[in-house]
Amino acid sequence: MSQPPNPYDVIIIGAGAAGLMCAFTAGQRGRRVLLLDHAAEAGAKILISGGGRCNFTNIGTNPTCFWSENPQFCRTALRRYTAPDFIAMVDHHAIAYHEKTLGQLFCDGSARAILNMLLAECQTAGVTIRLNCRIADVAHTAAAQPAKFSVRTSQGTFAAESLVLATGGLSIPKLGATSFAYDIARQFGLRVITPRPGLVPLTFAEDLLALMRPLSGVSLDSDAAIGRNHFRERTLFTHRGLSGPAILQISSAWQSGPITLNLLPGQDATAFLLARKRERPKAELRTILSEILPQRLAQALAPPTPDAETREPNIADLPDKTLRDLATRLTAWQITPNGTEGFAKAEVTAGGIDTRDLSPNTLQANAIPGLFAIGEAVDVTGWLGGYNFQWAWSSAHCAGRAA
Ligand code: FDA
Repeated sequence: MSQPPNPYDVIIIGAGAAGLMCAFTAGQRGRRVLLLDHAAEAGAKILISGGGRCNFTNIGTNPTCFWSENPQFCRTALRRYTAPDFIAMVDHHAIAYHEKTLGQLFCDGSARAILNMLLAECQTAGVTIRLNCRIADVAHTAAAQPAKFSVRTSQGTFAAESLVLATGGLSIPKLGATSFAYDIARQFGLRVITPRPGLVPLTFAEDLLALMRPLSGVSLDSDAAIGRNHFRERTLFTHRGLSGPAILQISSAWQSGPITLNLLPGQDATAFLLARKRERPKAELRTILSEILPQRLAQALAPPTPDAETREPNIADLPDKTLRDLATRLTAWQITPNGTEGFAKAEVTAGGIDTRDLSPNTLQANAIPGLFAIGEAVDVTGWLGGYNFQWAWSSAHCAGRAA
């Protein structure tokens, strides 16, 4: 049989964060790497990330900041390639950055600096990148020595002994997201945890939306919780429901049922309302609420008094029980989303290639030597705040050391 026309050791499909990182890591080991992407430019999501400044890691990264059916899986990769490891490379390339909040590191300038760094590392490591390259199918010849994967594309057929799936999840289809990694994983018998939108605004049925819609644009400190998982960050009311960091965070844990929203985290709302009733009985409830809540929200949440039509409600008009019920609503508001804004608005995809079918050391498929899956395609989803890129870097590094 004739030799394949394009002899590479490693083919990586997907030139995003994980694919680029994996490519130069393997290239630095002397592996001949081919990196393929159907997009016209590599790293499109890097460029739009972090509002154009790329929140490229989080200095507080640890395994508890990731969602997965198998929460222990990410430990090894995160330990083998850490946030300080990535920061060292950023420093080496003299990219200026700053900590914004909660350990989140952003470029001082454009996210393009991170992409340029990854591309420069690929160039130094001798990686071949082919863009605008549509993938038709992938075949595997287990009988060859060593076994070979061949990838048929719009630019020819390429073969290699290692194949890395780095095509990410389903978020933001207009940026070129596809189900490719899941499809190929299934083709090779790997299980896939049903992908769903993560870090995504939540939507609500009309009964709640009637309250939320007029509050569109209001944002406040909050604590959003599902069971023992809770996030103390800001919530934003929108014309479709709720968004803001607290909601995006909890959305990755939500599949059905209520979330609990505390609009006054760290405050004793009952004690506050009862004290104000004693101290300022003639004050309108909405005025009292405006002391602790944005004014529009205070107006919307103040319950009507018996003679609300003739005058504004005073706090003294309201029985203590009503004030206690209001305090409960403000601090433990149980609201059930009817959905999310979907993959079009989701910053990440939760679920993905089942980690039980991958090695935590190398990200190689247990049953298919030479097949690897990294980055967002895998069922490991970070919190908001640089964790998803850190997972891309860490998982890609491990695969790049082994592929
Ligand atoms: P990624 O999606 O980056 O790359 C996949 C690549 O595969 C793409 O280049 C795509 O074109 C290619 N591809 C897909 N299907 C293909 C096919 N069929 N054939 C060939 N190529 C194919 N995270 C974070 O930590 N900090 C942040 O600041 C942000 N900000 C942010 C903003 C926005 C708007 C979004 C949508 C997402 C973020 N994220 C983020 C998340 C972060 O961007 C994401 O987790 C990583 O980019 C995942 O890296 P991957 O390499 O796995 O996928």
